[in-house]
Amino acid sequence: MNRFSFASLGLIGIACIVAFGPHPDDVAKKKLPAKPTYAEHIAPILNDHCVTCHRPGEVAPFSLIGYENAKKWSAMVTQVTHSRLMPPWKAKEGYGEFMDENRLSVEELELIKRWDATGNAMGEKKKIPAPPVFTSEWALGKPDLIIQAAKPYRVSSEGTDEYRNFVIPTNFKEARYVVAMDVKPGNPRVVHHVIAFLDSKGRAAKLEAQNHDGQEGYVTFGGVGFAPDGALGGWAPGLQARKIPGGNAFRVEPGTSIVLQVHYNKSGKEETDQTRVGLYLAKEPVKQEMHLAWMFNILLAVPANEADHKVFFTYKVPRDITLWSVMPHMHLLGKSMKAWVERPDGKTVPLIHVDQWDFNWQLNYVLKSPIKIPGGSTVKIESVYDNSDKNPRNPSNPPKPVFVGEKTTDEMMLLIGAYTVDGQPARN
Ligand code: HEC
Repeated sequence: MNRFSFASLGLIGIACIVAFGPHPDDVAKKKLPAKPTYAEHIAPILNDHCVTCHRPGEVAPFSLIGYENAKKWSAMVTQVTHSRLMPPWKAKEGYGEFMDENRLSVEELELIKRWDATGNAMGEKKKIPAPPVFTSEWALGKPDLIIQAAKPYRVSSEGTDEYRNFVIPTNFKEARYVVAMDVKPGNPRVVHHVIAFLDSKGRAAKLEAQNHDGQEGYVTFGGVGFAPDGALGGWAPGLQARKIPGGNAFRVEPGTSIVLQVHYNKSGKEETDQTRVGLYLAKEPVKQEMHLAWMFNILLAVPANEADHKVFFTYKVPRDITLWSVMPHMHLLGKSMKAWVERPDGKTVPLIHVDQWDFNWQLNYVLKSPIKIPGGSTVKIESVYDNSDKNPRNPSNPPKPVFVGEKTTDEMMLLIGAYTVDGQPARN
């Protein structure tokens, strides 16, 4: 799995100065129309940023296609876009750069606000752009292997969201290299997001047998119930399937099962889902193997009744690596997570800052350009937790002291990074 030893743990205060994007007040508002129209200003924004999810049959609870829908939701759209709840892209601007960034500019936010405040003008009907066309084809062509749970899963109509882990054997006779993964939700109305973990030691199958409830898979809260041997990546609506860059790949040993974790939303009626994962296998020698570093604070403790409990964690990088993606993970008390690298030469490199942590939107953030991290660097992580009774998500009422664990009432401080080891070619 990972070649790192678990890091030195410590409480280290670190001042970190970060440059953020322009403040809304600084926008040259004069260039924007006083009375924006749906046809020219709003429809293009919704098409670009929202309708991948907000269209009939998709995961979002209503459609934002067409003038009537946009007008009906205008006030709420203004509210949730300005609070940065939507679109659900949680990495703060100006701190690391990622693929598929879906974030509204300050100009777009201002147009949305003005359109709402000035009575939702439609503009010229013939200027309304057509909504984007979504194909149901595999974006990278036909996969070499398509895997899915043995039977469709029945998702109950109501209740809290569910994390269901489907255990799917790969049946590889020899080690294979996976160069890309794509996901086709069986029922996009309820499939919120998906993460594919690897288990080569039969632990997931054991958990499934122990927790058998008459259906495929087993339920967890966030994790899969053990430290997996790896992960192939994650998927959420709007994230593109793309090849692992640099000619690199994940090595999957024979006998490995894929643990397909599907986060289900409830739609108000009983639904079924059988999500498929397409795997693309290397046909040529692979350059390097992708590994995962689990930067995991096993000593995390969050005292009761603290609304702003700050925790620091440091992770020593023992050798030269290249980092390709990061995925922060916390539970319901998490408020924010910020991670950066301090190199031996004193330079600081920002990794990611999720300043409004939302347990429902856990994404794997693929770096726009990979980051070289020399051995001897330190990854520093700062998380903030709200364990007060003011936190509406606090699972314990009254609040109680919280420690590391996999249950709803436990917490986590984990950053998963996918990396290659510099100068180490794949075993092929
Ligand atoms: C990746 C999928 C996705 C994208 C992109 C997306 N949404 Fe959403 N949206 C959802 C889901 C799912 C919900 C239901 C609540 C949740 O799961 O967070 C939601 C809820 C909402 C709500 C209701 C919020 C509430 O409190 O009930 C509004 C309004 C909204 N979205 C507007 C937008 C707008 C405007 C955009 C584009 C700027 C957008 N969304 C982009 C998936 C998405």
